Order: sequence, then C-alpha cells, then structure tokens
Amino acid sequence: MPVLSDLPVRDPADEPFIRLSNIRKTYPGVVALSDFSMEVRAGEVIGIVGENGAGKSTLMKILGGVTQPDQGLIEVDGLAHDAFTVEDSMKAGIAFVHQELNLFDNLDVAANVFIGREPRKNGFLKLIDSKKLNETVQPLLDRLGATFGPTTPVSRLSLAQQQMVEIAKALSIRSRLVILDEPTSSLPLAETGKLLEVIAGLKAQGIAVIFISHRLHEIVEACDRVLVLRDGCLVDTLEGNEINHDTMVRLMVGRDLKVVYASPATARGDVALRANRVRTTAYPHQEIELDLHKGEILGLAGLVGSGRTELARVLFGIDSALGGSILLNGDEIHFASAAEAIEAKVFLVPEDRKGAGLLLDLTIAENVSLPNLRVYVRNLLVSRSRESAQAEKSRDNLDIRAPGVSIRARTLSGGNQQKVVLAKWLAMDPQVIIFDEPTRGIDIGAKSEIYKLMRELSDRGVAVLMISSDMEEVIGVSDRVAVMHEGRISGILARSAASEENILRLAVGKTV
Ligand SMILES: Nc1ncnc2c1ncn2[C@@H]1O[C@H](COP(=O)(O)OP(=O)(O)OP(=O)(O)O)[C@@H](O)[C@H]1O
Ligand SMILES: [Mg+2]
Repeated sequence: MPVLSDLPVRDPADEPFIRLSNIRKTYPGVVALSDFSMEVRAGEVIGIVGENGAGKSTLMKILGGVTQPDQGLIEVDGLAHDAFTVEDSMKAGIAFVHQELNLFDNLDVAANVFIGREPRKNGFLKLIDSKKLNETVQPLLDRLGATFGPTTPVSRLSLAQQQMVEIAKALSIRSRLVILDEPTSSLPLAETGKLLEVIAGLKAQGIAVIFISHRLHEIVEACDRVLVLRDGCLVDTLEGNEINHDTMVRLMVGRDLKVVYASPATARGDVALRANRVRTTAYPHQEIELDLHKGEILGLAGLVGSGRTELARVLFGIDSALGGSILLNGDEIHFASAAEAIEAKVFLVPEDRKGAGLLLDLTIAENVSLPNLRVYVRNLLVSRSRESAQAEKSRDNLDIRAPGVSIRARTLSGGNQQKVVLAKWLAMDPQVIIFDEPTRGIDIGAKSEIYKLMRELSDRGVAVLMISSDMEEVIGVSDRVAVMHEGRISGILARSAASEENILRLAVGKTV
C-alpha cells in the first residue's frame, strides 16, 4: 500500500490528477459504458448517479483496475496507462469500497481492515502486533460511529456493520481518491450522517471522493459535481444549484418521475403471525412482542444493530428463539429450518442478496423458479418454458435490465440482482412475507413498482413485514410502524403518527 510520502507531489487544486478519456466497455449484449470521459481533482467530491445497470460500478471497476476497458485512455498525473491494473490503481492512491462486500468472515474486524498490512512486532518471528492493530482500528471505527469493536468477529456483524468495516478499510489506506460504491445503501440515517461527515473530512484533507448512491438527498448534500449516467453514456454534469433531486431524476430516467407510495391498506384482518415474548441472540435478555395482521404492511424501523434482522431470522426459522413462542394463525409453530417456514408459506426476502438470496451462477429464470420448483415440475422435469415465462413476466414487472432471462445472475448490476431476489419471492404465494431492506440499491424508477407489488400482496390478505432503514419508505409504505431499540419494540405507531421525528425518538429509546 502506498503511504502519502511515496506519492508524487500533488497537483495544484485546479489540475486534474486522474483523467479518463473516451472509455468504452461492452459485455455480450450490453454496452456498459460508451465514450465516457471524466476528470478528478484533489479534494473534490464527485457524485455518480444513474439507474440500475447504467454503468456506475463498471466505471469504478475500471478505476480500480479490476476491469479493463475495450477502448479509451486512463491518465494519472499526466501519465497514460496502456492497461490500468489493480497495482496501478493502488499506486495512484485509489481506495475502493465495493458495492458488494469482500470481507473474511472467519477473521475479526481489525484483521479485515489491515489484511496483508498488519503491523508486526520486532523480533525474529515478526508476529502480528495485535495491540497496535486494535489501537489503529478503533479510531477509524469511532469516526464512523460504529458500535462494535476491532476484535468483533465479522461473522457476527450485520450487513450495515460489515459495510462500515469496508469503509474503515478504505480510510486506513492513505489515499488520494476514495471511491464509495453505494456505501450507504444499508446504512440507516444516523450512520449515514457519520459517513457524510467522513466524506467532508476527506475533502478537507485534499482527498478526492467519488460517491455513488441511489439516495439522491445524500448526493445533494455531499457532492460538488454530479455525473449522470444513462445506459452507459454520460448525459450531463451538474454543479452548484443544478444538483437537485428533480433534475437528477429527469436526467437519469429521461423523464420526470416521482416515487409513488401505494394507498393505505383497505382492510386489516386477523393476526397472522404473533411473536410472544420472543428472545433472540442479539439481546438475549430482551423480549419481543409483535402482532402482524393479515392484509397489512407493518414497517419495522430501528438503528443498525437494534435486533431487527435477528428477529426476522428467528421468525423464518433460520435461527431458533432463545425463549418465548411464535404463533401462526393462532397455533404455536417451531420452524426447525427455513425450508419448514417456506412449507408453511412464511417467507423472508433477505437483505444480503449474495449470502442468502441469489445463486450467482444460475440464470435469472432459474433463480426466480428455485424456491417454487414444484410449480414448474411436470413429469419430474422442470418445465423450462413455464420457468422462463414467469421470469419474463417478473423481468417486465420489475424492469430487470438484462439481455435475457437465460443470462447468469452474476453478470447483472447490483440493483438488478436485488430485483431478481424480489422477483423470486413475489412469484410465490405467501401467507406471511418478511422483506429485509427490500429496495436496498434499487433505483427510483423501480421502487414504485416494488411498493405496488407489496401492496398487491397485502390486498390479497398476505401479512407483510417490512424491515427498512429508509425513513421515507417506512413512512410512505407502512400501515403501522413498529420501532426497535436495543432488542425490544420501543413503540408502535399508527400510519397517521408515523413521522420521522416519532420514529427517531423511539429508535433511540425515548417515548413519543
Ligand atoms: N461481468 C459482466 N458480464 C456481463 N455483463 C456485465 C458484467 N458486469 C456488468 N455487466 C452489465 O453492464 C451493465 C452495467 O452494470 P453496472 O454494474 O455498471 O451498473 P450500475 O450502474 O452499477 O447499476 P446498479 O445501480 O444496479 O449497481 C449492466 O447491464 C450489467 O448487466
Ligand atoms: Mg452498481
């Protein structure tokens, strides 16, 4: 890893130190980037926005040296590169937080932050200096407002917390450019605020930042300049007052667009799922009481680490409860596994698409049909035509951008992968469905569609539990909002009382 003193003397602030010219990148059936040019100067915060599949991650992978462009030029400090490799990128002082997490589950936080660069003790064996390691990592975690420490095993962290570890890793490298590819997509409000402070801090030190996000208000808050991508092309560059929500949306989508929240539930039925004094591993001594009714969308809000995901895992049979009981339509149930939950038509759409939601080496069609295979099986053969008919329908409904449904999930953009995960569960016939961060990384165009599909489910009498850290979404979509704080439900708000202020008060343990 380069240290600051190894780096060439920085250009004057108005001279770009990185220049991309006429970059083109194609994949079979897809032009991911076309004739793209940009410049990066010291200390500027550049936003990149665009719909799912617009080419944002591709661009960053090229800057990271992970992907080679078909055409175009990359210059660093005026020096042109024939092939810009990972090594070149590191030498240029580029640090990268990928959209998908790349952590080692079996190591702790500090080891992940400093992997391959651990401080060593003097002496013959050159042992890793764990004390120094932890002392170096703790301040980075503090800067991000993390509630876990350097010695916590990564396997115990939630997705959002893992994302913080990735960010800490990027901050630990003395860099000239930090690229953040959707770093906040799973970070709730408070933690997002911290990250925006960190970005401002980097800027003040003369470090450039490229910030990719679908949360446009963060872009407005953080960025000096915004590049808008559509179908692989740079459609416009915005500066100053031009950086506003509506302008970005119009340029991204090609028309004016507002997120449409479905109307409230028409009728709320009986209790479908009831958590009765349930205790989970997150907070073993706290009891959770929650009723989820047929025909409602119940939002579940709370800060990172408040125990929402753990509750979902218990309800879905992935983990067993430490105590209490769970009732489905009044009968006590004991799911020993997710398969048993699925059998009872209780589904969980997980937040982590890579871990639990998606098989990257299968096609879109196979992924959509997987949990529901029996429907497609005729005479013990999977009916490929029925399978692809359903997948085509899902592709249209959710606007999954792909050359066809027979391409592998691995090649899809992050947001389009998330849409496949949703499609797979929406194609089924649930009684109870739990969505964990359903629109993480999903662009504004597809959000309304997902909300509409959720409301269609609840109108059919399905009980919907929606875990979300997106405040607007929680308020816009939910019929009621339950808020968790440190492992228990701190309050339940009716739709009319579900304001941002009330939710935040409950989330930090106050009353409303
Ligand atoms: N390895 C690959 N093989 C084939 N196609 C790919 C590959 N990587 C990306 N693509 C395609 O390139 C296009 C751009 O994808 P990219 O990941 O850059 O989008 P994105 O703007 O980051 O979207 P998102 O907001 O969903 O993350 C998409 O159509 C995607 O399917
Ligand atoms: Mg992406």
